[in-house]
Amino acid sequence: MERHIVVTGANRGIGLALTRRLLDQGHRVFATARRPEQARSLHELLKRYPDRLHVIPLDVRDESQIVRARDEVRALTDRVDWLINNAGVLYENERIATLPAENLIHSFQVNAIGPMMMVKHFLPLLERGRQPLICQMTSMMGSIAMASGAGYYSYRGSKAALNMLSRVLSFELRPKGIIVLLMHPGWVRTDMGGPAAPLLPDESAAGILRVLEKATLSDSGRFLTWEGKELPW
Ligand SMILES: NC(=O)c1ccc[n+]([C@@H]2O[C@H](COP(=O)([O-])OP(=O)(O)OC[C@H]3O[C@@H](n4cnc5c(N)ncnc54)[C@H](OP(=O)(O)O)[C@@H]3O)[C@@H](O)[C@H]2O)c1
Repeated sequence: MERHIVVTGANRGIGLALTRRLLDQGHRVFATARRPEQARSLHELLKRYPDRLHVIPLDVRDESQIVRARDEVRALTDRVDWLINNAGVLYENERIATLPAENLIHSFQVNAIGPMMMVKHFLPLLERGRQPLICQMTSMMGSIAMASGAGYYSYRGSKAALNMLSRVLSFELRPKGIIVLLMHPGWVRTDMGGPAAPLLPDESAAGILRVLEKATLSDSGRFLTWEGKELPW
């Protein structure tokens, strides 16, 4: 089945790897990027898949841009099957004595509020989707049960918030048949994950897509790794 899939933060890292794989598998991808004109890798993909790839400008912090992106998608299709909220930010070297409120605000905007506003505005399209699914790209660093050690306040706090918001969302969307998954992509060699990360973006993307393909409504609200293993909250 050709799925219609929205991927945010698709110009690099895991979002780009997901986009590439989804196109290779024959799906139609609405790939969002903050600065499409600078998204060189997406432009390369556009040459290979001019009919099935659509590059859409979007900063997930700006709700009016989300509405515009939704309208752009709606002009091209009447349904969205999968919404992959992948865009994210991480601040290094945070300690309480010097923690800027701006780090927290920015991280919550991108990592927690953005994905929820995406769902809010894409819901009518998801309701028309085939086996509709929302994948919230979170992190095991958002697990309170697994937290050990200091630092990463903004990242961990915002991903923990995303986990709770999405868990609650899964209950609201269950009667509509929409699956909500919390996905930890592994430690991945991207700008965010750094050069020491063991997983390549394409390996992570392959695992994530295997998990998404197998997901059913009974999985909705679960916090899973790219290998399909359950994580504690
Ligand atoms: N890499 C890891 O080891 C790892 C581990 C656990 C979870 N994750 C999660 O996986 C997701 C992807 O991570 P990654 O490693 O691929 O990160 P990355 O290489 O740093 O890429 C981040 C992506 O998010 C986009 N983005 C940032 N702020 C945005 C905003 N305000 N609006 C729209 N897009 C925005 C970036 O766009 P620009 O290019 O315009 O900045 C970029 O496309 C994130 O949610 C991250 O938290 C990653």
